[in-house]
Amino acid sequence: MNGDLFADVDRRPWAERLGPGSLILRGFALAEAPVLQAGIAAVTAAAPLRRMQTPGGFTMSVAMSNCGDLGWVSDASGYRYAAADPQNGAPWPAMPPGFHELAGDAAQQAGFAGFAPDACLINRYEPGARMSLHQDRDERDLTQPIVSVSLGLPATFLFGGLRRAEPTQRLVLQHGDVLVWGGPDRLRYHGVLALKPGAHPAVGAYRFNLTFRRAR
Ligand code: SIN
Ligand code: FE2
Repeated sequence: MNGDLFADVDRRPWAERLGPGSLILRGFALAEAPVLQAGIAAVTAAAPLRRMQTPGGFTMSVAMSNCGDLGWVSDASGYRYAAADPQNGAPWPAMPPGFHELAGDAAQQAGFAGFAPDACLINRYEPGARMSLHQDRDERDLTQPIVSVSLGLPATFLFGGLRRAEPTQRLVLQHGDVLVWGGPDRLRYHGVLALKPGAHPAVGAYRFNLTFRRAR
């Protein structure tokens, strides 16, 4: 058996429906990955990744930044979208080339035509970083989907139901995978298990996640 051959077959794009409003597009962002990585580097040079405080007073293990008209922020006073980076008062960097288009194309594949994100949260996971189960509900228009792009090290994503107590499905998200959830699945609980150490050939010792939203 030829391991390389099978690795290539595995990375051919394919899609799997997870629910009425959710679709995983395996490898959908693979061709664009270098462009996305360059965009992340440019954004985070201007708006550095930082570990935000939760309203409960904890420091998140995931380091975050944003691009687009609005950015998601968390501090002692709560979660919200803000037009400026609280760290320097400057507007968040614009979405770099390729970001908006990729998100729109992925949303369209999942049945959400015309998705025009105004916010892109950049999450950087180092080994051990995790995100506990939550809903994305800080956006104004919940008819708009969430488009989530994974780069770098693989992570185990937990995809739950509309109530916290419902069982979760485990999905391993790989470099280039795109997950879309919206419609009846828009408020499904989700989270990420602690990242395992590793070295991704293109990205190194991290996982990056881009989450595109229509915030207002
Ligand atoms: C998030 O829920 O904002 C991030 C999900 C992920 O990192 O895959
Ligand atoms: Fe989320």
